[in-house]
Amino acid sequence: MSGKNWDRVPIDVQSIDAPLSRAAVFLVVTVANEQTALAKVFSTLDGLDDLVKTVGFRDLSARLSCIAGIGVDLWDHLHFDKRPRELRPFAQIEGAVHVAPSTPGDLLFHIRSERPDLCFEFERILLDSLGTSVTVVDEVSGFRYFDARDLLGFVDGTANPTGLDLPASAIVGDEDADFVGGSYVIVQKYLHDLRAWAEVPTPLQEGIIGRTKLDNIEIDDDDAPRKSHKSLATIVDAGGIEYDILRDNMPFGRPGQGEFGTYFIGYSRYLWVIEKMLQRMYIGDPRGAYDRILDFSTPHTGTTFFAPARPILQALARAAAA
Ligand code: HEM
Repeated sequence: MSGKNWDRVPIDVQSIDAPLSRAAVFLVVTVANEQTALAKVFSTLDGLDDLVKTVGFRDLSARLSCIAGIGVDLWDHLHFDKRPRELRPFAQIEGAVHVAPSTPGDLLFHIRSERPDLCFEFERILLDSLGTSVTVVDEVSGFRYFDARDLLGFVDGTANPTGLDLPASAIVGDEDADFVGGSYVIVQKYLHDLRAWAEVPTPLQEGIIGRTKLDNIEIDDDDAPRKSHKSLATIVDAGGIEYDILRDNMPFGRPGQGEFGTYFIGYSRYLWVIEKMLQRMYIGDPRGAYDRILDFSTPHTGTTFFAPARPILQALARAAAA
């Protein structure tokens, strides 16, 4: 894994542990169902490392990084006889009130940097290289908002795993020997109704999120009549073991269009963990007591990917070219 020399050399592609950034681009594309398109896509993926160097070296302190995720349909088109154990499509979730839709996506590019211009330049050259072999289905430019707040006004990302807990939560280990070092990724693009949210008194907002707004202190809601977002997103198994994921959500928006959003991205060692979080948010715990964040936030996309470790990505590229 990378992480030692981030100020001296460009960051290796597929570095799940690359630093959270001030700017990010989330790019989702589908790939044309032709052999030539596949070949083009995988030669571009093979060159991703060089592209990070080409753009990132121009300002190393901006810490440009890129993670490519591969969707299940594309995976099945590869001449690769193995598949990550849990990889499956994002299944639509229908709660009593809110629905999490499943939307198409063969490839995800998660591009991060301290500088939006580096994200832009990287995406520009990347899409130029992919050419007509792909169709862009979603493109979001996110920005860091004050002290890492989402547009609902809360600090977002605090409970992320750190140190050794980060790989233990976010990176596939020996349980899937062929895919060690990879990560399952789920993305959802949420749009908020900020007008309605602004009418909710702050103490109630805090109860919905599970943290205080100003100083970000966790609220114990064990005895509350309704669980908060934080509690619904906490997964503990029968043996008392807690399962975390790594999130790098980013706000985005166009105030002139009334668009205010959060781009959710979660990396996990086990896909079932993020799926279980979503079940608890949409179906509720107990059933019906869904996540009230959803009364003010509507998901417009929902897609699952697998981000293979760098050597596997290169092997995939070579297999596709053969
Ligand atoms: C509109 C979209 C969302 C917003 C605005 C949002 C915001 C937040 C905020 C403010 C926190 C508390 C601070 C923190 O620990 O980061 C939080 C915690 C968390 N969220 Fe979300 N979130 C969203 C969607 C999701 C989704 C879809 C998932 C998972 C599928 C998720 C998983 C988590 C987890 C695991 C935590 C940490 C819980 C803990 O304290 O252990 N969030 N989120």
